[in-house]
Parts: sequence; C-alpha cells; structure tokens
Amino acid sequence: MKEIYLDNGATSFPKAPEVAKSMVNYLKNIGCNINRGAYTSSFEAENIVFETRELICKLFHFDKCENVVFTKNITESLNVLIKGILRENDHVIVSSMEHNAVMRPIHALEEKGITFSRVPCNRSGELNAEDIKKYIKPNTKVVVMTHASNVCGTILPLEEIGKICKEHDLYFIIDTAQTAGFLEIDYKRLGVDAIAFTGHKGLLGPQGMGGFIINDALAEYMKPLIEGGTGSLSEYEKQPCYMPDKFEAGTMNIPGVYGLNAALKYILKTGIDAIREKELLLVKRFLEKLKDIPDIRIIGKKEVEGRTAVVSIDFPLYDNGQISYRLYKEFGIMTRCGLHCAPSAHKTLKTFPDGTVRFSFSHFNTIEEVDYTIDSIYKCMDQ
Ligand SMILES: Cc1ncc(COP(=O)(O)O)c(C=O)c1O
Repeated sequence: MKEIYLDNGATSFPKAPEVAKSMVNYLKNIGCNINRGAYTSSFEAENIVFETRELICKLFHFDKCENVVFTKNITESLNVLIKGILRENDHVIVSSMEHNAVMRPIHALEEKGITFSRVPCNRSGELNAEDIKKYIKPNTKVVVMTHASNVCGTILPLEEIGKICKEHDLYFIIDTAQTAGFLEIDYKRLGVDAIAFTGHKGLLGPQGMGGFIINDALAEYMKPLIEGGTGSLSEYEKQPCYMPDKFEAGTMNIPGVYGLNAALKYILKTGIDAIREKELLLVKRFLEKLKDIPDIRIIGKKEVEGRTAVVSIDFPLYDNGQISYRLYKEFGIMTRCGLHCAPSAHKTLKTFPDGTVRFSFSHFNTIEEVDYTIDSIYKCMDQ
C-alpha cells in the first residue's frame, strides 16, 4: 500500500531536495566546529553558517545578519525570548490560539509574579486586533502571538497587532512555526521586534534547527537563557554581550545549518507565492469535497481565504482517534489526531477535550492524493 504523508503541520516530509545531500557532505567531508579552529574546513563551515544567516534575512526581509540567532527549534527560541524579556511582575498578552511552546514558558514564569491575558478568538480561530487594547495594562511588556493556528490554519492579523504594539510601546514577538515558507513574512511591515522560526516544518529543513531574528533594542534588553562557550572572548568568563554570541552558547547544530541552508535556497528559488498557491489549490479541493460528506465538522474557516494548509476535522459520530488510525492502517494516510499541543486553541474551537483529525498538506502533495484521501474518509465512515 502506498503511503500519503498529510502531517506537514507536525514536520514536513519530504524535505527540500538538496537537504540530505548538503548534510551528508558536511558530515563526510567537513565535520569540524566553527569559530574555534584556524583551518580551511572550519572557515568553510563558518561561511555556510554566515550564508544561512543571510538567507534567513532574505526570507524575513531583515537586514542584520548578526541578529539572526540559531537554536534547536522554535520552542527553544520562544523560551529564550519569553524568559529573556519578562521580569518580575510583568504582564504579557497572548491569543487563545497559542501552542504550548508559548503557553508553557509563560506558565512557568507565574511563580515570579508574571501574569498573562489571553485575547479570545472566535470559533473560526479569528482574532479582532482591536480587542488587544482591552487587555493592555500599565505593566504589559510584550505581546507574543502565533502567526497561524496549528489546529485549524487560521491566520491572525499580525500587521494590525504590530501597529497597536507600537502605539502602546509594547514588544511584539511572533511564532511563525506554521507560516514560515508559506506566507511572505516581512519583518518591517509586521512591526515586530522578534520573529521566532523553526526549520523543519514549512521551511522544509531538518529537525533540530530553529532560531529567531531580533532587533538591537530588544537584544540588548534581553538576558540570555543559556551561557557558555562561544569560541569568542575566551579570556573572559562572562557571556559576550554582542550578537549573535550573546544567545548562541555551545556548539551549534552545524549539520542542521547545512540542511537548512539547502532548504532555504530551494524555497527562495521556488518562491513562497508558488508554494502557497499549490498548497491552497490542494486545500480548496479538499474543503470543497469535504462539504459533501455528511456527519463531519470542518473546524475553523471553510474557505481558503485567510488560512494555511492545515485542516482539522471532527467526526462527531465516531472516535477521532479511531478514524485517524484507520486512515493509516487501511489506506496509508498519515494524519495527526488529538489536541496538537494547543489545548487553548481546541477550547476556542469547541473541540476540547476530544480533539480533531488534522490533515496538513505540503506543496509536494498532489490533487490525486487529495481525492484518494476523500475516498478513504468516505470508506472509513461507511463501515
Ligand atoms: C504554532 C506552533 N508553535 C510552536 C511549535 C513548536 O515547534 P517545534 O517543535 O519545532 O519547537 C509548533 C509545532 O507544532 C507549532 O505548530
């Protein structure tokens, strides 16, 4: 039985074409550390790391390579940002669609007297930007928000929120786990202070690679989460305060950087618009055909406007876990059921605690795979 991967919201597969080759080349032929050796292979690896910072700048329309920080994933990036910014008795604003990568670090800070407000989204996962204003307090320091829901794909109005943050002198940090590589993300237009990204989802790179970009003012304000060797200023026992060393202690995932480098080149060459167009073509077909199936609920937006290629379905007459299991066991279709590490989003969408079956497409999927998936859903519901 052939297998169809529809779990790209969790991690993308396949990866961009040159990713594996680039990583193997590093591991087989280069293999050394960066910033620590005065030999050719080390300089070569340093050049690739620098070039990857440049590619990230290109992706996010950012202009300061040294303010691109690499981490192991967006969870780490969000921890570094959230814990680096918030001090005792600060207040933070989030949406009700956040992933636990945002919510868990914030909850962990509650013991320091840090509080948060959750701006409610509607049952389609949409947020009214103006609502943010109702939650701003004298001690509000930062707004942290996902760019799009990992449960239902609804995109949040970040540009408007960015303007509100500027008017009220609040830092603005965004989680692009579900949008980087799918939407054009313009650092300046969104009015953000930091963009957190992960390399293994829409960016089509390997697991274990993520990062963030950050402006000078916020980088200076923040405390690092992890201190240690950087290969620089070795005579001092204190962490360097310049970028990116301030936030990049320890040996980085260099094979991962090589993989991400190849993935970013592929995305920039293919074009984000072309990738999004293909994914939305698949989602349009999927949504249209789903609407003919009785006894299912499409969660979130029913049209392609304002959404990503993540579609959640509830099967009220069945156990969602059972449907997801059968789709794989009998038809080879890989989905993800449950709560997707986003309990607040499921509460907003009224799918808590049962969760949904999530189908998430990449531009490598085909119309034939969409049609086969629809047929398979019918068959699962027939029996
Ligand atoms: C919106 C969102 N934020 C954060 C994450 C965490 O990503 P990672 O596991 O790469 O840190 C995910 C992954 O599911 C996500 O969808």
